[in-house]
Amino acid sequence: MLVGGFGTRLRPLTWHTPKQMLPVVDRPMLERVVSELGQHGVTDAILSLGFKPDAFLAAYPDDRCGGVRLHYAVEPEPLDTAGAVRFAAEAVGMDSTFIVVNGDVLTDLDITALWRLHRDKRAEGTIALTPVEDPSRYGVVPIDDDGRVEAFIEKPRREDAPSNWINAGTYVLEPSVIERIPPGRRVSIERETFPAMVADGTLYALHSEAYWVDAGTAETYLQVQLDYVDGHRGVREPAIDASACVAADAVVEHSVVMAGAQVGAGATVRDSALLPGVRVDAGAVVERSVCGPRSVVGAGATLRDLTVLGEDVAVPAGAELWGARIPDEEP
Ligand code: GDD
Ligand code: MG
Repeated sequence: MLVGGFGTRLRPLTWHTPKQMLPVVDRPMLERVVSELGQHGVTDAILSLGFKPDAFLAAYPDDRCGGVRLHYAVEPEPLDTAGAVRFAAEAVGMDSTFIVVNGDVLTDLDITALWRLHRDKRAEGTIALTPVEDPSRYGVVPIDDDGRVEAFIEKPRREDAPSNWINAGTYVLEPSVIERIPPGRRVSIERETFPAMVADGTLYALHSEAYWVDAGTAETYLQVQLDYVDGHRGVREPAIDASACVAADAVVEHSVVMAGAQVGAGATVRDSALLPGVRVDAGAVVERSVCGPRSVVGAGATLRDLTVLGEDVAVPAGAELWGARIPDEEP
């Protein structure tokens, strides 16, 4: 599991916490991804760590998460997506077919079907593809009728993308892929390794229409949470934590209110996520925004348009924020 990135698009939430340890409704993103893997028979996961590894180690002192045993490979410096795979594979002596996942993707993808296709095609690597509206922030992957990958184009300009099927960030790989990755330097699996496999004709892919969201931006991090409470992932999850406190005349609509959060008299919270310990004071309005742990929205303040507050931020009473990121520099 690749979970070592800086999470830059989710700042300020990721100044203190790696993105995969950010809560999604009531548990860390990581736990949701890991338990999904467990559903498909995965028993052991290696976390490929770089940025703030201690946050992961401290959260799972018994090395178990979502029914899966955790192992850790901490990079001395960021090695990028393929460098990280090589580093982690060497750490555990990987010598059989294995799965790689981007740790910020929440999906109902059928990994078992992906594994089967990989076996049937005798592929060296098989990747899952998902359709998106705008492929430009992803890896774009056209395939032929046999499922063989024709090209792998990471983050093309929108008008240059040959397809709207993109790399869903889940791969089944043979150990021979590890040998393709030069050791000891940054290597991108999307820009170097996969294009080399395309050239050799050994990379296959499977189209999947299953639920899929990369939760790595403020917009999608908010979206995945609302999807859980809207019931788009099966069971409708409780939107307001039992330990949260919402004033009788406050309005909380289509939002996630996490443990210990408080919403004061006459306040409005709509299409938003309040992380643990947030306080929204009397008469404040929070719309389509994310408030980080223990942040305080002062009385009568307004947050709109994907405003994101980091940890312990205090917004003064009466302030009006549109699309703001606070703090906008490392605290
Ligand atoms: N260990 C380690 N070391 N992990 C890393 C590093 C690194 O140097 N760099 C990134 N990661 C981790 C991130 O934490 C994340 O879980 C995963 O690798 C993917 O990185 P992102 O930064 O989220 O990539 P992206 O979303 O821009 O693009 C990737 O995912 C898309 C699908 O969500 C690419 O794989 C695209 O091709 C793909 O379409
Ligand atoms: Mg991502």
